[in-house]
Amino acid sequence: MSSPYAVDIRNVTKRYNELVAVNTMNLTIQTGEIFALLGPNGSGKSTTLKMLMGLVQPTVGEINVLGVDVLKDPVAVKQQVGYVPESPNIYEFLTGIEYLDFIADIYGIPTSEKKQRITEYLKALQLEGREGDMINSYSDGMKKKISLISAFLHKPKLLILDEPLNALDPRSARIVKDLLHELKAQGVTTILSTHVLEIAEALCDRIAIMYQGNILALGTMEELRGRASMPNSGLEDIFLRLTGTGDLRAVVEELLR
Ligand SMILES: Nc1ncnc2c1ncn2[C@@H]1O[C@H](COP(=O)(O)OP(=O)(O)OP(=O)(O)O)[C@@H](O)[C@H]1O
Ligand SMILES: [Mg+2]
Repeated sequence: MSSPYAVDIRNVTKRYNELVAVNTMNLTIQTGEIFALLGPNGSGKSTTLKMLMGLVQPTVGEINVLGVDVLKDPVAVKQQVGYVPESPNIYEFLTGIEYLDFIADIYGIPTSEKKQRITEYLKALQLEGREGDMINSYSDGMKKKISLISAFLHKPKLLILDEPLNALDPRSARIVKDLLHELKAQGVTTILSTHVLEIAEALCDRIAIMYQGNILALGTMEELRGRASMPNSGLEDIFLRLTGTGDLRAVVEELLR
């Protein structure tokens, strides 16, 4: 199966025993798009991203990433993709610089470029001076930054980012957002999941709202407004309407009783 899209998900279902984590998903993402997956906890976002990386196998369906069938050649996909998992599982017994050095070597980044790229990223994300410390002594945000740098280092054509700005301070989050914009101009595709609706609204070309494994709505902000019949609304109201959690006042009142 070859495909003109950066990501092509055809008829994909993922079941964990009885539980349907992703249900008959069909989704294509264009080269150079920044695409957001939104949805309540447990709606299937991380499962979808893991399937794109070949880390989880679909129960049914086909997935093509950058022209490669993920099921047939997961290694080829991983070479061209930068992935930030939801909870970075990084080697905590290494220092930041040792880890990034190791990742750069895995991807075969030439020694001449390696040091410069790592130094630039450490500086941009304000980790300079801490790169010699063990990763297990880092804060959550610092670990996330190391995970982001390790995804960007080899200049991948596709970024798969599971809650990439989670735990980042505003300045670092802004730098990463600006970087994603710059990379888009160079033709890099990004698919990310987030709970921060402003990020999806401001940064992403298209948004998919997932609920219980299904894509409830998909499109640009304009299209989502039309779909929810809420022409002047922001993403938060649309999200709450579509995911059936609109009547929050009653929930809060119940909690306070
Ligand atoms: N390894 C697993 N074994 C069993 N069930 C799983 C496994 N991984 C995920 N699930 C289930 O699949 C569903 C989707 O989970 P997933 O992690 O994809 O959600 P999510 O949208 O990323 O949620 P969150 O916003 O909390 O990160 C959940 O019901 C979850 O319990
Ligand atoms: Mg998740």
